[in-house]
Amino acid sequence: MLTTTDLLKMKQSGEKITMITAYDYPSAKQVEAANADMLLVGDSLGMVVLGYNSTTKVTMDDMIHHAKAAKRGASNTFIVVDMPFMSYHASLEQSIFNATKLFQETDAQALKLEGASDEVITLTKRLAAGGIPVIAHLGLTPQTVNVLGGYKVQANDEAEVKQLINDAHKVVESGAIALVLECIPKEIGKLVSESISIPTIGIGAGADCDGQVLVYHDILQYGPSKFPKFVKNFADFNNVGVEALVKYVHEVKEGVFPQEEHTYKIKNKQFLSN
Ligand code: KIV
Repeated sequence: MLTTTDLLKMKQSGEKITMITAYDYPSAKQVEAANADMLLVGDSLGMVVLGYNSTTKVTMDDMIHHAKAAKRGASNTFIVVDMPFMSYHASLEQSIFNATKLFQETDAQALKLEGASDEVITLTKRLAAGGIPVIAHLGLTPQTVNVLGGYKVQANDEAEVKQLINDAHKVVESGAIALVLECIPKEIGKLVSESISIPTIGIGAGADCDGQVLVYHDILQYGPSKFPKFVKNFADFNNVGVEALVKYVHEVKEGVFPQEEHTYKIKNKQFLSN
């Protein structure tokens, strides 16, 4: 299992960090089998698994339920769990309580928090000091999509870039162990990655980040049929899956399935004839 020190060494040596989301036992098993460095139980599960139109409906119970299943499937992988919408914007005491519960119940290696507001920075400091590693998330922060005005590329002008770099330094100083950068121009992904000491993990932030993360369902084309520009589909599970299901339905209707090899037989037939 990777450690936070290993992540830092990977940045320093230039070895790219790979992170993939997973939300249940079988997907986590696949992520571990693929040798991904890190597994993210992202609150994107609200959209790709639960069918919501944003991540803002995901609850603490949802995150705990899915992260526990992912942990069972990938017990040797570094697992990061998202703190869900508003669970870390209550009072500091309540936010620490929520983070501790999520960390302890899911047996995760780190928690991920979006943004760099004063309250997030204070919380990150307290968690880091107490022993809960935090991964920050800047750029497009999906939990604030309703404030940002949609899923759009961020850090487009000088003021936004200055703000992002300032925020990146703030999260480093607060003790975050890595920074996810989402949906920003590649030049800015490079700039931020070169100006901070902790690894950056990009999603739509260009090839110069220290690592990359993609959503499991986007990589496999499983569920969604529309994808952001930054996604590359490495398989087509939608078609492969539906083709298999169509074959099953057809074979049952036609009496082709099940066959002898799928069927149990009674050992002692005698009593059947009585
Ligand atoms: O929830 C998620 O899957 C994420 C990734 C997009 C980084 O936060």
